[in-house]
Amino acid sequence: MTKTLRTQVLIIGAGPAGLLLGQLLHKAGIDNLIVERQTGDYVLGRIRAGVLEQTTVELLDRAGVAARLHAEGLVHHGFELMFDGQRHHIDLSRLTGGKSVTVYGQTEVTRDLMAARAAAGEPTLYSATDVELFGFDGDQPGARCTVDGERIEIHCDYIAGCDGYHGVSRASVPAEAIRTHEKVYPFGWLGLLSDTPPVSHELIYGRHERGFTLCSMRSSTRSRYYLQVPLTEQAGDWSDERFWNELRSRLDPAAAAALVTGPSLEKSIAPLRSFVAEPMRFGRLFLAGDAAHIVPPTGAKGLNLAASDVHYLSQALIEHYRERSEAGIAHYSARCLSRIWKAERFSWWFTSLMHKLPNEPEIDAKLHRAELEYVVSSDAAMASMAENYVGLPW
Ligand code: FAD
Ligand code: DHB
Repeated sequence: MTKTLRTQVLIIGAGPAGLLLGQLLHKAGIDNLIVERQTGDYVLGRIRAGVLEQTTVELLDRAGVAARLHAEGLVHHGFELMFDGQRHHIDLSRLTGGKSVTVYGQTEVTRDLMAARAAAGEPTLYSATDVELFGFDGDQPGARCTVDGERIEIHCDYIAGCDGYHGVSRASVPAEAIRTHEKVYPFGWLGLLSDTPPVSHELIYGRHERGFTLCSMRSSTRSRYYLQVPLTEQAGDWSDERFWNELRSRLDPAAAAALVTGPSLEKSIAPLRSFVAEPMRFGRLFLAGDAAHIVPPTGAKGLNLAASDVHYLSQALIEHYRERSEAGIAHYSARCLSRIWKAERFSWWFTSLMHKLPNEPEIDAKLHRAELEYVVSSDAAMASMAENYVGLPW
């Protein structure tokens, strides 16, 4: 027996992209169903992004899910670049005509979106296995999946593939219809979360002989730190003590002295990758977020790019249902990709500038140092970095 369901927009994936799209469509009176491979608790357990661009905050406002973000998020007007044992302040607001970013964890954004979805009564099928898409090249698209042993077939007008880098949506597109571009970096980020006060009130991005370091936070009492590590490392080989010692060794003396350590709540290693799939629409299937592109995390663009895709996609679908206009749908892919490639460039540039390659020739280290010295001494260079960091306009 197969159960049959019908919705206007079928969303694959309940990460931030899928949940935010669902909420914006719901607010516009468009019904939608989300199919998610994992449980809700599993999705909430993934520790990921921490920095939101102003446009992302505005979109969360529009979706009606930003009350807690405004109450608890930390507005940051700058960050620090650390190299050669010294920190240099990058005054984002001065350099961008008053813009800022907000530190508020992806986990919290996801929690707020899940709560809003539950309140709205929009359905989500969690723990869905064997998800397969069909018919998106014609006018009767849909998907089949299994939930609690029951086979379910869902019919829809459109499918939004918001199922991340390893999802089924991009993999369902015939190879000849899609082009992918990829660069894998020869190092990873080892992250540690702890209930300790952040070492500084602003984020610190550091380049060091021993590798890149990022000092970030989730609140005034919870810190998030990252260390560049070789890809051969395992998180399990890093005791808390080893992590803290390595972090301290990469900080300037004042930060090293101020660092408060404590037991880790989570430790994991993330690989770094630049990836873009083109185009992002295949008939009635749209890709959005990590399903279509990955940036290396330096510069905090991943979640924000997922939000800008969702902005374009929600507008396109709302125009379609309200005004019978196909323009947004036709231009979806090109609109997204224009912004995506600029964020890919910035993330690649910031990653290359701040990390130490294995066996890096001395000339590269010297060139990186010269570039860092240039960035912190030229308002033009700092402004370019700042306007990309706070997010390019939609
Ligand atoms: P995801 O969050 O990956 O969600 C996809 C969902 O689809 C998942 O829930 C998955 O379970 C589900 N799914 C997968 N396959 C299927 C299937 N077959 N069927 C149904 N469901 C499926 N970005 C920033 O902007 N700022 C940062 O500071 C930042 N820091 C980061 C730090 C780390 C360590 C990492 C790993 C990432 C970071 N990012 C950051 C990137 C950011 O987390 C991602 O870009 C973001 O999660 C993308 O959201 P998404 O909804 O597109 O994809
Ligand atoms: C965080 C992650 C990033 O990639 C970044 O650039 C800034 C902050 C974080 O997880 O807090």
